[in-house]
Order: sequence, then structure tokens, then C-alpha cells
Amino acid sequence: MKVDSFRKSRSEISRSRLVNNLRALKSLQDPGEVICPMVKCNAYGHDAVLCGKWLEAEGVDALGVALVEEGIELRQGGVDDCEILVFGVMPPTALAAVQTYRLTPVVSSLSELSELAKSLSPAAALKIHLKFDTGMNRLGLKRDDLGQVKRVLADSGQRLVVTGVCSHLACAEDLGQPNGMSDEQVHRLSEFQSELGLGGVQRHLLNSTGLVGRKFLATSRPEWRGWGARPGIALYGCFDDFDLLNEPAQKWVKQTLQPVMSVLAELVMIKRVEAGERVSYGGTWRAPATGLIGIAALGYGDGYPRLLSNRGTALIQNQRVPVIGRVCMDYTILDLSRWNGDQTLREGDLVNFWGDSGGRLGAVEVAQQVGTISYEILTGISRRIPRVAVD
Ligand SMILES: Cc1ncc(COP(=O)(O)O)c(C=O)c1O
Repeated sequence: MKVDSFRKSRSEISRSRLVNNLRALKSLQDPGEVICPMVKCNAYGHDAVLCGKWLEAEGVDALGVALVEEGIELRQGGVDDCEILVFGVMPPTALAAVQTYRLTPVVSSLSELSELAKSLSPAAALKIHLKFDTGMNRLGLKRDDLGQVKRVLADSGQRLVVTGVCSHLACAEDLGQPNGMSDEQVHRLSEFQSELGLGGVQRHLLNSTGLVGRKFLATSRPEWRGWGARPGIALYGCFDDFDLLNEPAQKWVKQTLQPVMSVLAELVMIKRVEAGERVSYGGTWRAPATGLIGIAALGYGDGYPRLLSNRGTALIQNQRVPVIGRVCMDYTILDLSRWNGDQTLREGDLVNFWGDSGGRLGAVEVAQQVGTISYEILTGISRRIPRVAVD
């Protein structure tokens, strides 16, 4: 049952920004290259159904999820037509759901492939993509598996139909370096594809950094042409590898990508503390002078990291204000002393914890403050925070 939301804290998800980012990323591709936006993990915390429908309406080749469950959620939410690629390891028990919900498994081990061939009824056919481990050493078929792969596919009597091949870049940031890890991976994937005689199928490899990096570093190199992309983080307007890009790429990212998610919390209380009074658990912050503090309804239970205690900042009326004291499960306390004697700030107003326009306080910055990546910050926003579609 859907429960109404009474507090105003929310995460605003911008359709126009998502669409802007998608179109911009597509503009880095050559005609005919596949685009498969990644909407796994609830679209990096942005609401998979919301984003999935917007992306489908824009025209994409496929949407990428990690779990069969995530694929089912998309179909049940109304993503009807677009192909859905399931990248995670697929438990054999999921086959019926995969067929019912028309999902395409990305098969990444021999046992998965054999299990599928065995479980598929004689009259059924199933489209699959094959994923190769070209150096990441995570999921994917290895060179030694190729003989067996051929055999299982042949024995399946065309019931397993390979419609795509792919791999995942481990160090996309080195894409411009000849003989770097990415070069090695693209060569291996091409070899695997031709050894299996799968010339005409879809091929995808590039993540966000790979797609941007290729455009600005390696577009002219033939081995990098024709590869489809599976952008995730850039689609949502963040780019953690920014410092590793060259200048033109940085310029492009800065001028083009826009943060899709804004996290807004309601300022539920404004109060005065006297000089020397301490704030929040453990009393780790002490007021240097008498002044105002504000209690924002967003805590670590909502996904705002506790590590930002006494470290984070938020935006109010476009001004940065510091987080003071320890972040609590439901609340974060802010130093509002700049509003001492000023009536422009009221209880009920909204505080922006990240995602403000102009990139003034982005999820990447928040992530860096706690030594992580924006992916973790975005996906960490909990179910307590309603995702609200805007524009
Ligand atoms: C298989 C696969 N493809 C693409 C992506 C997207 O990567 P990024 O968000 O860095 O663009 C991921 C992300 O983890 C992934 O696991």
C-alpha cells in the first residue's frame, strides 16, 4: 500500500535533465551504436520506473538492470516495449519470470549458459547476450570457455539466440593510453566475438567514462568504433572521474551534464542556542556565540551519510551552511547564524542537500567529503524519501 507523505523532505527527479543528459551522451556516439542506459539499483536511486519510462519514450535500444527483480519492476511499472538486459548472475529459478516479463539475460558464465539450455523447454527460444571477462575479473566468460560455449549454443538447436556480446571496462579512465588496460579489453572482446562467429550481433562496452573518454581521446582509433554504450552515472549528471579527463572532455562534462536528483529536506525547527551550548549526540559541536540553528528532516536513515557530521554543507537561499554536530537517524542540524535577526528564513522552508543547479553542491562533492563515489550517495537515498518527478 502506498502511504502518503506528510513531511516535505523529498528527492526531486528532473525529466528534462535526464533527457538532456541522454541526448548529450548519444551525441558522442556514431550512428548505429547501441545505447543501453543503466537503470539498475532503482536507476541509481532516481526511481527506475520513472526514469525507465522517460528513457523508453526517448528511444533507447535497451535498459540495463542487475537483477531479474528489477526487470520485473520495470515491466510492471509500464516499461512495455523496450528491451531489458539483466546483467546480474541469473539464478535458474528465475527463468519463468524472465520469459513472462520478456527480459534478456546477459549470460556471464558457462554454468549459467548450460543451465539455461537445460531448463528451456524444447519449444521455447530465448534471446541472450553473452558477457566476456576481458580483464575486470568480475563477471564474464573467459577464453577457456569459448569451445564449450560454441558446443552449448549448437546443442541448443537455435533455442538460445545470441543477440549481443559485451564486456565491462575496469579502468575506462586509461582509454586514451595506447596499450592500457582498456585497449587490451577491447582487443580481447573483438577476438572473442569473431572466434564465436557472432559478427552481426549488438556489441556494447562503454560505461560513462568510456563513452566520454573515447570521444575526446580515441574516436579516431578504429578498434574503438562501433561499440555500444551503457552509461550510468553520467546519465544522472555526475562524473566522479572528472579529474582524470583531459581538458576538452572536462569542458564538455561541465557544460553539458546536469544533475538529475536534488535532495531537499524540510527545515522543521529553527531555534536559538546560547554561546557554549552543545548540539546533537555526544555534544560534538559547541556554539561559539548565541545564534540560530536549524533542524532539517533528513538523517542517515534517509541516506544522508553520518560521516558528514560536522563536515557536510547544505544550501539555503543559495548560501552554503555547515552541518553541525552528529547527523542523526532522522535529522541533521545546521548552523543558521547568518540568519540571526533576519526573518527571511522560516520553519517549513526547504534545504538543498545536493543537486542544486549550477553544480554548486553536487553529489560528487558530497561523496568526496566522505571518501566515496557519487554512486554510493545516490543509491543510498532510502525509500523514506519520496521521489518526485519535476519538469
Ligand atoms: C555492467 C555495467 N555496465 C555499465 C555500468 C555503468 O557504469 P557507469 O555508471 O560508470 O557509467 C555499470 C555500472 O556499474 C555496470 O555494472
